[in-house]
Amino acid sequence: MTRHLLTLNDWSAEAIEEIIAHGLYIKHHRSEFAQAMAGRTLLMLFEKPSLRTRVSFETGMEQMGGHAIYYDVSTSPMGKGKESIADVARTVSRYVDIIMARTYEHTTIEELAHYATVPVINGLSNFSHPCQILGDLMTLKEKKGTLAGLKLAYLGDAHNNVTHSLLFACPKVGMHISIGCPAGPKYEPLPDVLASARAAAQATGVSVDVHHQPEAAVDGADVVYTDSWMSYHIPEDERQERFAALGPFQVTSDLMKRAKPDAVFMHCLPAQRGVEQTAEVIDGPQSIVFDQAENRLHIQKAIILKLMGRL
Ligand code: CP
Ligand code: NVA
Repeated sequence: MTRHLLTLNDWSAEAIEEIIAHGLYIKHHRSEFAQAMAGRTLLMLFEKPSLRTRVSFETGMEQMGGHAIYYDVSTSPMGKGKESIADVARTVSRYVDIIMARTYEHTTIEELAHYATVPVINGLSNFSHPCQILGDLMTLKEKKGTLAGLKLAYLGDAHNNVTHSLLFACPKVGMHISIGCPAGPKYEPLPDVLASARAAAQATGVSVDVHHQPEAAVDGADVVYTDSWMSYHIPEDERQERFAALGPFQVTSDLMKRAKPDAVFMHCLPAQRGVEQTAEVIDGPQSIVFDQAENRLHIQKAIILKLMGRL
């Protein structure tokens, strides 16, 4: 395992399962970690908006006796084009103990990690969102007891960070993954990510499928997952075209009936009711979206402590 968290492609099944177990332990033994980050500082660099990632990391540090700095990159010399990523990484490594960054380009996170002398956590790039998926797998472990053998169906925009991170992680932990998305490179996962998922799936004996009919993707699923059709980096002028293409992949109650009777509905949030899913689904009894959101807090603590060598 590297000392950074950039993508889940870099993490083994054992490392993923270990961090989930730590997240679950920390959730139920909060007071044991009350001083675990005393005197330590997390720098949080943001190029994009955030509710969950920002508040869970900041609260997590505070609950562990540490401190977090929120830094809007647009107000920095780097954001103004006056300082290189390398110089930012080398400078802030002299001040803080750990960095979390949310960026547009994934190469920005890679460059930060390359030059930083402290651990770097990817808090979402256009390419991947590893913290989200670690929290989601923790939530599934909590709800279903075991991950191996579950079938996760992802519907909608599959050419995105959340899908890529699901593809990196699910096959490693023995979960089948079935994607339902419009045909074409704009909506399908990156071919390299699919190839990596298929290689991992061969080792664990699970399936990785891409369908262009939503029903085929959802049949018999234990988990139905969707995400925004307008990720933070998507230009507003693409809305109409995207909604037309993605419309058939909206998660509806009828579609949920194709999944197992005890299937859960997941969404990383932020969500738009009546767009990627109906209100009936996200506000219905199968939805576990706020458990997912809560577990971001617990898993962030585990990620920080692991990368700091405290676990
Ligand atoms: N799911 C997630 O990362 O949410 P935010 O964009 O609010 O951080
Ligand atoms: N795919 C979404 C995830 C938001 C947490 C985005 O990038 O905006």
